[in-house]
Amino acid sequence: MATTLPIVRTVADLRAQVRAWKAAGQTVALVPTMGALHEGHLSLIRLGRARADRVAASVFVNPKQFAPHEDFDAYPRGEGRDADLLASAGCDLMYAPDAGEMYAPGFSTTISVSGVSEPLEGGARPQFFSGVATVVAKLLIQAQPDVAVFGEKDYQQLQVIKRLVRDLDLPVQIVGAPTQRAEDGLALSSRNAYLSAAERQAAVALPRALEAVANAIAAGGRVDAAEAAGKAALTAAGFGPIDYLDVREAGDLSRLGPGAIDPATARILVAAWLGKTRLIDNRAV
Ligand code: PAF
Repeated sequence: MATTLPIVRTVADLRAQVRAWKAAGQTVALVPTMGALHEGHLSLIRLGRARADRVAASVFVNPKQFAPHEDFDAYPRGEGRDADLLASAGCDLMYAPDAGEMYAPGFSTTISVSGVSEPLEGGARPQFFSGVATVVAKLLIQAQPDVAVFGEKDYQQLQVIKRLVRDLDLPVQIVGAPTQRAEDGLALSSRNAYLSAAERQAAVALPRALEAVANAIAAGGRVDAAEAAGKAALTAAGFGPIDYLDVREAGDLSRLGPGAIDPATARILVAAWLGKTRLIDNRAV
């Protein structure tokens, strides 16, 4: 089926469409993605629809957020399929710039958000959040939406983007969308496609470990003991290495514990390898 979704590839064409919507009195939501769309992304589109009259999705595999050894070249791509899925979820426009449109020759600006972007993913992938912050700032300035929707699956990314928008006074409301999960609890992710059948079965240990840590802390247990038990459960299920399994303050991601804590302010975040695939997840306590 040939998609009917309009696709624009330049900042000028994106802005012309957004300007036309706004001139007609319509509000606009932007959903930034790197494509390889799944039900999790489509839930962001639907949330965008609920929050604004029009929804645009960007599809851009951002080279600046991949280290040289990471999976930029192998990252799954399929524009036709993505366009069909976006249209089916009620998206009005796909913005799919090429790398030259996003980063013109001589591009030399990098945005880095200190503090919240430094631990966790920032420790494991030092270039990651400056790449995300730079492209998200550009996308927000290019599209000038009223609302932008990001998944809570990438919880630290969501906090970094909220900080960026506050610090730079960008006139957009950032909305976090709940993580979509498979029936067994595994968070939906484009990287799940890399898992073998056996790994996919083992992967359920990730949300289960998070749940066990949450239950232990909610019952008044020590943070250090809960984290250690969660890591042991992941190792027993075949995960390794575990980059982190941490209980953190939900807003600024500073360390909590090592003893008992107020569960209301806590978020548990994990990143761990299963074979060659790195999976991340998080949950409130
Ligand atoms: O979450 C993602 O898919 C990406 O990090 C984002 C926000 C689209 C920036 O490239």
